[in-house]
Amino acid sequence: MTIAPEIEIRPLPESAAADGGLMSELAGLVNEVYADAEAGLWAGGAARTSAAEIAGYVGAGEIVVALVDGRIAGCVRVRELDAGTGEFGMLAASPRHRGIGLGRELVRFAERRGRSRGHAEMQLELLVPREWRHPSKEFLAGWYGRIGYRPVGTGAVERDYPHLSPHLATPCDFVIYRKNLGPALEPADRT
Ligand SMILES: CC(C)(COP(=O)(O)OP(=O)(O)OC[C@H]1O[C@@H](n2cnc3c(N)ncnc32)[C@H](O)[C@@H]1OP(=O)(O)O)[C@@H](O)C(=O)NCCC(=O)NCCS
Repeated sequence: MTIAPEIEIRPLPESAAADGGLMSELAGLVNEVYADAEAGLWAGGAARTSAAEIAGYVGAGEIVVALVDGRIAGCVRVRELDAGTGEFGMLAASPRHRGIGLGRELVRFAERRGRSRGHAEMQLELLVPREWRHPSKEFLAGWYGRIGYRPVGTGAVERDYPHLSPHLATPCDFVIYRKNLGPALEPADRT
């Protein structure tokens, strides 16, 4: 599906999981983006993901990429949380291609996929420091609000993700956001 001449949103086929070079490229992109976006939240050296983890998600059909001039510039993981709910995460746009709509189009794609699967709602989790404000998290909270996501709950990392807790540099919560996807399902929404 082509959104604009230079941006293409494309779900990766499950078979792409066998492409080690591509898995490393995607893991590198996510880790580069999150090292900056979550600076100060993680103890030194904690990478967001690995090529092996990405390959697992690709093999499950969960990874969607954004291409600019045919090269990977962004990605998102989309999956089914339960029969009525989709979830997206690991949303990343390359710092070299910010502000041109990659993030917006990846989220739109995730929402279309959710609707086409009969999901009434889309969920995401935003990791935030408990005791201070993080500029990129503030930006995201504002943006998600503008595109229809509402906070519905807050969880503590140490309680809900105990394996991640030792890697945190500061106490963190994750805020759960949800958006009602609405009943409309246009032919163009079938992905
Ligand atoms: C979130 C992210 C994917 C957005 O990517 P992007 O492609 O730059 O965003 P877009 O161009 O689609 O713009 C999205 C919105 O942000 C706004 N925006 C983009 N860059 C901006 C900037 N520098 N300052 C202020 N607003 C900005 C756009 O105007 C747009 O708002 P609108 O939809 O109300 O018009 C990107 O910032 C990113 O990779 N962040 C780090 C990873 C991360 O935190 N992921 C989410 C974890 S929950």
